[in-house]
Amino acid sequence: MRILFLTHSFNSLAQRLYIELARRGHEVSIEFDINDAVTAQAVELYHPDLIVAPFLKRAIPEAVWRNHVCFVVHPGIVGDRGPSALDWAIMRDCAEWGVTVLQASGEMDAGDIWAAEAFPMRLAKKSSLYRNEVVEAAVRAVLVALERFQSGNFKPMSLDYSRHDVLGRLHAPIKQADRAIDWSRDDTRTVLRKIHAADGFPGVLDALCGEIYYLFDACADGTLRGSQPGEIIAQRNGAICRATLDGAVWIGHLKRKSESEPALKLPATLALQEHLADVPETQLDPFSASTGETHRDIWFEQKNNVGYLHFAFYNGAMSSAQCERLRVAYLAATQRNVRVIVLMGGADFWSNGIHLNCIEAAASPADESWRNINTMNDLTRAIATTGSQLTIAALQGNAGAGGVFLSLAADHVYAREGVVFNPHYKGMGNLYGSEYWTYLLPRRVGEDKAVTLTQNRLPVGAAEAHEMGLIDGYFGTDRKDFLAKIAQIAEGLAASPDYPVLLHEKGARRERDEQEKPLDAYRAEELQHMKLNFYGFDPSYHVARYNFVYKIPHAWAPLYLARHRGITS
Ligand code: COA
Repeated sequence: MRILFLTHSFNSLAQRLYIELARRGHEVSIEFDINDAVTAQAVELYHPDLIVAPFLKRAIPEAVWRNHVCFVVHPGIVGDRGPSALDWAIMRDCAEWGVTVLQASGEMDAGDIWAAEAFPMRLAKKSSLYRNEVVEAAVRAVLVALERFQSGNFKPMSLDYSRHDVLGRLHAPIKQADRAIDWSRDDTRTVLRKIHAADGFPGVLDALCGEIYYLFDACADGTLRGSQPGEIIAQRNGAICRATLDGAVWIGHLKRKSESEPALKLPATLALQEHLADVPETQLDPFSASTGETHRDIWFEQKNNVGYLHFAFYNGAMSSAQCERLRVAYLAATQRNVRVIVLMGGADFWSNGIHLNCIEAAASPADESWRNINTMNDLTRAIATTGSQLTIAALQGNAGAGGVFLSLAADHVYAREGVVFNPHYKGMGNLYGSEYWTYLLPRRVGEDKAVTLTQNRLPVGAAEAHEMGLIDGYFGTDRKDFLAKIAQIAEGLAASPDYPVLLHEKGARRERDEQEKPLDAYRAEELQHMKLNFYGFDPSYHVARYNFVYKIPHAWAPLYLARHRGITS
């Protein structure tokens, strides 16, 4: 079928649906929901059999939904209507939530229902629930709805609140007043729930050090305590810890509220800077045993000759300081008595490369870009040149740009089934990229495919990534299954009688490759291009980064996504 995606942006859900539908032989073109005229023109050019709206903020124009079946993916259970669906589900502590595929009609979210899928909720950030449970349920629901649509004889169910199984209701958009934290009354769990329900976007408005900020990225602390709820009692690796009535919460990221100038999300300590002079730093060694709930972005676990190095950086963005800390931790891991090191990334993201927000906030974004890419390169190199262990990259979450190539530095790369790869930099203002990608990518997929992947700028699913040799395998629809299988593979390698041979072969291959072309040469060539991106006359990268971090709305869907714009008839 010819399917037109009408979406606010090509976000993680739209990317995943694109992958799933294209894989099943459908032809998919993407249009951004910019205004009614653009939508109408896209429909006219493409003549779609079906329109799917994975992520919409506005209603579909009447002229479109009256003449075409439009599936709207709503992140709520049957009967749930209105914006902020997931926000309310978290705020209300719902035990179960879901995704409904309904047909666009005159009333927002009240159209006929084609499919619905449920999932159990967990106490987690909205962004995490969206990228995991919602995405998986949406894929299942859209595939069912599509099958029903293709059958030609399915009659979708009209919304009927008198049915006992229709549990959702119309709700008002959530306001900051609903989200507000009352530090003198809210316990830790309530504070967490409020910040989680706003995570990703828009954050919870709150006063800090005499200014108003949006709060993001919260987790509880099991031991720290303060006398005054709301006061900042500690700082660690970019995060601040605030006392609550009955404990403490870490807040990783802040965005200043400003009417006069654009603001961006930053690590909390970077946003507050001089205000934290008297706040104690409470460091935590990545190798210390688990100390219960706390803020920890890098940690190491060891089990049966296998070391698991976790790096759960918010949004997968890796600043210069984080790359450096991770490199130090990685090198320390190689000194441990382990035969295999598994690079775990985080639960939500593996890595999205250099930290564009920290770069934007630096006094010289060009200098900080340079510093950040060099720290990424140092880390990638440390992994690629490890002679003492076999290494596995275990991608629980998505990877983009330099983050993909970082994973290829490991000897084996495995991904959870639903992981989406974006192995390209070009969308960021024609960025050339580094992380030794010119060495790491062709050795896995060949020169031609490397060109296609980096130029086409399309997302790649785990199955396709495996077929082309980008990764060695994919499994596990959920994290638990994925992690169990990873542990099995890692322990199998560590215990294998072939281990010494495998380690020797790895060293020999690295030596051969080095003789053919030294890693330094790849790096120097890539960085020459990057120097032009950062310091040259063409400002495209700086403009693209600005638009990305300040979330400037798209003016049009790029041609590589909007296939219909290449249709001339
Ligand atoms: N630096 C800083 N923030 C980043 C980031 C990066 N490299 N990559 C992603 N993010 C942030 C986004 O701003 C967004 O923030 P928010 O939702 O908290 O406001 C969040 O991570 C999720 O990203 P989003 O773009 O919504 O996710 P997606 O799944 O829709 O798209 C990518 C994934 C990888 C295609 C997209 O995030 C991207 O292009 N990232 C930039 C990659 C890059 O160019 N890195 C630099 C070169 S190495």
